[in-house]
Amino acid sequence: MRKNLVAGNWKMNTTYQDGLALVSEITNMVQDEVTGSDVEVVICPPFPFLAAIGKQLPENSRFHLGAQNCSQKESGAYTGEVSARMLQSVGCEYVILGHSERRQYFREDNELLSQKLKAALATGLKPIFCVGESLETREADDTFKFISQQLQEGLFHLSNEEFDQVVIAYEPIWAIGTGKTATSAQAQEVHAYIREQIAQAYDAEAALNTTILYGGSANAQNARELFSQPDVDGGLIGGASLKSRDFTDIIKSF
Ligand code: 13P
Repeated sequence: MRKNLVAGNWKMNTTYQDGLALVSEITNMVQDEVTGSDVEVVICPPFPFLAAIGKQLPENSRFHLGAQNCSQKESGAYTGEVSARMLQSVGCEYVILGHSERRQYFREDNELLSQKLKAALATGLKPIFCVGESLETREADDTFKFISQQLQEGLFHLSNEEFDQVVIAYEPIWAIGTGKTATSAQAQEVHAYIREQIAQAYDAEAALNTTILYGGSANAQNARELFSQPDVDGGLIGGASLKSRDFTDIIKSF
């Protein structure tokens, strides 16, 4: 079933000490202030902090742990890589895959991402799979075509059972870290399109049940408006997830 979800992608930010302090502020504030809402929260810190931060998250609560990437390989001589099984063994439930920064700076393509998805799913991790167009693509009026291709090549090879575990994040590249948010109408239009594509690739029920997040300069000021759109189920938050007040206010936007 689709759910309301807010995920914080810390990217390559904070130290261990600052990360622990941040998560303790967030969990305390959310515990005190967010009542009566069933929103799930996923915290995605850098790899070295995962185990410790996982232990800090209250058990059986709305809080879950996520990683920002994983290897497509199961185990072995792959220096510097982190496997899905390792992530799961420190308490991760989610893993972000296909973020535009990984596609752009680390040359991750749809073929590689397909393998990463398989590795994550085989271990029981829930992928948060990112799609989104560049400004150039949007201005050329190719957004839908581009998103469709990312979905077809990256995601729609999954079986129905596998696809059930996937959360999709629509993150227009031009809105990431730029302070330029998609309008709620722009976000809704693409989210609805993604749902249509899912209905075509799988079925109407799968489309209805898929959680689709918006990401790209989402903040405490614009979250309520974005989350009120019928096909926007929450957010994947970068910059604003590093400030406990801002992130908590975003969680409270539901
Ligand atoms: P910002 O919220 O900093 O724009 O980042 C969005 C993002 O990339 C989340 O994955």
